[in-house]
Amino acid sequence: MIALAATGITKTYGGFTALSDVSLSVEHGEIRALIGPNGAGKSTLIDALSGRNPCLGRVELMGADISRLTPGKRRRLGLSRSFQKTSIFPRMTVRAQIELAARAVDGSDGMDVLDEFDLRPLADRLAGDIGYGDQRRLDLALAMTGQPHTLLLDEPAAGLSFEESKRLAAHLRDIAARRGVTVVIVEHDMDVVFAIADTITVLQLGQVLAEGRPDDIRANPDVVRAYLGSAA
Ligand SMILES: Nc1ncnc2c1ncn2[C@@H]1O[C@H](COP(=O)(O)OP(=O)(O)O)[C@@H](O)[C@H]1O
Ligand SMILES: [Mg+2]
Repeated sequence: MIALAATGITKTYGGFTALSDVSLSVEHGEIRALIGPNGAGKSTLIDALSGRNPCLGRVELMGADISRLTPGKRRRLGLSRSFQKTSIFPRMTVRAQIELAARAVDGSDGMDVLDEFDLRPLADRLAGDIGYGDQRRLDLALAMTGQPHTLLLDEPAAGLSFEESKRLAAHLRDIAARRGVTVVIVEHDMDVVFAIADTITVLQLGQVLAEGRPDDIRANPDVVRAYLGSAA
């Protein structure tokens, strides 16, 4: 079953084309990594899928056309996202923020995600006072309130230590496997990408350069030239 399908996504800023006729089809329960050089259009694509930015093209969630729906409507249908920069409120406690997010999505108190993401020990701390790795975990927990079935993550491991990145990768795999959550993740840490992705889509200059299994992407000369270089 296809959880998320985008067809012909095109986004222009003035005369500049940030995305040109991009299509993407993600299986239910799949972890799809979106990689590519800076400015390739990865965040723009996440924005288009989540409804944050008007664009041309069609987006389907579980077979239903959501192209014209607001981000809030898409969220309540189970399509959730995180941002490249965390969207936490520093002057609010961890618990209050999760409650707020959960109530807005499905009226629950969100205490399930507080436990799932090991945030209970930090529940009464101000979000601005906890460590950066914990803030990223809170950000992921906020995205997971209301049990979304599809998760769009824009560089969730940015700024994390190697150990924290590994833990995050393991957690995402676990969520995808145990709950059948579909994940689209923008990530430039190739250790994280190759550790968790079922399939990789490579964007370059607003177009899909390649798509395939991690081993095929790693061996693809176009991808190596455009992005991976010696890192692969
Ligand atoms: N609001 C905007 N106005 C004009 N250009 C933008 C805007 N947002 C993004 N862009 C441009 O669109 C291209 C894709 O950006 P982005 O999606 O952020 O790339 P990535 O996330 O892959 O680094 C870049 O060239 C960027 O400068
Ligand atoms: Mg980006």
